[in-house]
Amino acid sequence: MARWWRADREAVVLEVRGLEKWYAPPGAPSACGCVPARQVLRDVDFRLSRDQTLAVVGPSGCGKTTLLYALCGLARPDAGQVLLDGEPVRGPGPGSGPGSGGEMAIILQDYGLLPWKTVLENVALGLKIRGVGRAERNAEAARILADMGLAGREADYPARLSGGEQQRVAIARAYALRPKLLLMDEPFSSLDAITRERLQETLLATWRTAGVPFLLVTHSVEEAAFLGRRILVMAGSPATIVARFDNPGCGAPGYRGAPEFYERVREVRAAMDAWWRGGPGPSEGEGEGGTATPGAPTGPNAAQDGPDGPGAPNGGRP
Ligand SMILES: Nc1ncnc2c1ncn2[C@@H]1O[C@H](COP(=O)(O)OP(=O)(O)O)[C@@H](O)[C@H]1O
Ligand SMILES: [Mg+2]
Repeated sequence: MARWWRADREAVVLEVRGLEKWYAPPGAPSACGCVPARQVLRDVDFRLSRDQTLAVVGPSGCGKTTLLYALCGLARPDAGQVLLDGEPVRGPGPGSGPGSGGEMAIILQDYGLLPWKTVLENVALGLKIRGVGRAERNAEAARILADMGLAGREADYPARLSGGEQQRVAIARAYALRPKLLLMDEPFSSLDAITRERLQETLLATWRTAGVPFLLVTHSVEEAAFLGRRILVMAGSPATIVARFDNPGCGAPGYRGAPEFYERVREVRAAMDAWWRGGPGPSEGEGEGGTATPGAPTGPNAAQDGPDGPGAPNGGRP
């Protein structure tokens, strides 16, 4: 077997295979045994390597939060598999053992800070749950807060912080856990443009120094093109991945002003527009690697990463 293939497999931190999710109709008794009424996610396949960042972009309501919950074990997939370092994720939990969603850190849309705890306590909380002693966890939390530009704010309560500061606390809390993977749900959507751009840059700088890959879902094409080395476009009802892009310049200094950035924004937007105009079409989702959508670009930057990877003879499809 070719060495590159093995190296590629070893570099994969997250692998998602054929993920499907349904929601039962409102008011349906949970133990009714009937077939759930509405499918939200269909046949979602992708991989994330250790040295990558991944942005999943899609319109509001398409299932991005549902996808994140399924990835970290907060919601049980109805079909398919989520593998973290090759181990199935079986459920959420504060632990760090195999199969524990606790190996991933998730930043929710509303930051998820505990209002009755100080900034320091919020950041140290995950370490406390893991049994790290007070002195050690407080020192680690203070160090990460300083990295995030929040030295001196340790004793404040979240209500006294701006939205951008609260988001930095949430990022600090996630990194304090030294996760294998960081998941983020539209982390900057409620911030003003300048704060959002600064925090996006902070996030990339932290990614470079901490080396923790992240997966971010967003409805913003610009955010996806700025933060994702890989970009997946999610659309449809049920939603699936309708286009995939490599974005190798992501993270380079000055990328926001680079022609490549604008080109990526244009391509991703074109893929979304094509989907809206053309809908799923007769063979949607059945092309190689799930990337081919009628009208969507499949040029040099459109890439495939089904479960068997780019080298697979049929893009990972059965
Ligand atoms: N717990 C739930 N029960 C039933 N339907 C849900 C539930 N959570 C989300 N949905 C529905 O699933 C769809 C996708 O929701 P969501 O994942 O929150 O989308 P997004 O994050 O892309 O805005 C929406 O139509 C939403 O109403
Ligand atoms: Mg959402």
